[in-house]
Amino acid sequence: MIIALDGPAASGKGTLGKRIAAHYGFHCLDTGLLYRAVTLALLDRGLRLHDMWAAVALARALDPNRLEDLDLRRADVGEGASVVAKIPEVRAALLEYQRAFAARSPGAVLDGRDIATVVCPTADVKIFVTATPEARAKRRFLEYQARGLEATEADVLALIKARDARDSGRANAPLRKADDAILLDTTELDIDAAFDVAVGLIKRKIGR
Ligand code: C5P
Repeated sequence: MIIALDGPAASGKGTLGKRIAAHYGFHCLDTGLLYRAVTLALLDRGLRLHDMWAAVALARALDPNRLEDLDLRRADVGEGASVVAKIPEVRAALLEYQRAFAARSPGAVLDGRDIATVVCPTADVKIFVTATPEARAKRRFLEYQARGLEATEADVLALIKARDARDSGRANAPLRKADDAILLDTTELDIDAAFDVAVGLIKRKIGR
């Protein structure tokens, strides 16, 4: 059983993914962490994000069991990841692990940008989670405030829009809703409400 959750930054898909996985007793993979891990490894070595050979080598050497590093959550790492994620060879190097993870029993929830379109095109349930850029910027801004980070809401909105453009505009595995994915707009929903809607959608598909 594979549940694919795709969507732009701060749409709520990560939190939703964890809650859905816990609800069904499934494994959960935040695939953004894979791209973030390659990015952090580049940054830690003082390498450029466009250094394709280094990025590919680091992606191939990545230990996916070590995605706990809190630095992976850094804002600059997220921004950098959307640059590194444009490199087709990096995406290819991370594909096999994601597909093997998706096949885990009794089921798996994967969240990312290209799960329903590229990683698991035959997923049992495909949900595209989105919200307006303004709603997503507000969430990110509040998150940064809670972590004591300095940023204005306008800055966060500009970054969100730039990241959307990079993720949707790239040639390889761009962020887009799969034709057979269900749209879940969380603009007006808090996480509990979004979770209830998501479980309702999943129930309709898999009967539980
Ligand atoms: O979801 P998160 O913000 O952690 O992802 C960081 C970046 O990694 C995204 O902006 C995107 O460019 C890239 N990514 C991707 N494909 C995925 C997951 C993330 O290209 N499946």
